[in-house]
Amino acid sequence: MDNVIIRKAHPEEAETIIDINIEVWNSTYKGLIPQEIIDKLQSKDNNRIESMKQRIQNRQNIIVAEINGKIIGYNSFGPSNDEKYHDSGQIYAGYILKEYQGLGIGRKIALACMTELQEKGYHTLITKCLENNPFNSFHKSLGGIYMGKDSFDPMGLHVGMENVYYHDNLEKSIELNKKKLEIKSEQKTL
Ligand SMILES: CC(C)(COP(=O)(O)OP(=O)(O)OC[C@H]1O[C@@H](n2cnc3c(N)ncnc32)[C@H](O)[C@@H]1OP(=O)(O)O)[C@@H](O)C(=O)NCCC(=O)NCCS
Repeated sequence: MDNVIIRKAHPEEAETIIDINIEVWNSTYKGLIPQEIIDKLQSKDNNRIESMKQRIQNRQNIIVAEINGKIIGYNSFGPSNDEKYHDSGQIYAGYILKEYQGLGIGRKIALACMTELQEKGYHTLITKCLENNPFNSFHKSLGGIYMGKDSFDPMGLHVGMENVYYHDNLEKSIELNKKKLEIKSEQKTL
């Protein structure tokens, strides 16, 4: 995917980002999480849109992938929200629309988040993924080391257990992912 633009989200894109969140939760988590929990956590209303707008404006911690003017995925990142890793940065979430998955875009966005976190002074990173999600391989492929499990309870609802992945050397993980992206683009031109 050469025509993909990786950039910070703009506040007016809040609703599009929420729509992607809802769509990818439904395409990925159906069968993994009870539908009533998905529906409870993934409803869209003006409050959610407004708070997403504020978040983008104030924290500037969402990076999107755009193809031909359309946002097809995003990541959010910032300081770790896990007290066991209080000095680390964290990629909180990564969602790519189903039809664009597996093309290297998720790695590109994650790399942009890692680079931003490194520029902010972080040397280590965590990511988390529901234990029965097939995309755990993505977290390992980014260079994360499995550290154990943690309970995932957004808005006080117990969704399940998450696997925790740790990057003990963020600089090395950035190099690893740059290399993997280079190899992917070389393979395409062969
Ligand atoms: C996880 C996600 C963000 C990865 O982005 P992506 O663009 O699809 O992934 P990439 O093409 O950059 O792939 C990087 C690695 O992820 C893994 N991966 C990608 N697609 C995968 C798939 N369909 N099944 C399993 N692993 C996959 C592979 O390990 C891949 O490494 P490789 O290129 O060496 O084979 C994206 O697939 C997604 O949104 N999935 C659904 C939502 C989700 O589960 N998000 C993670 C929540 S923790």
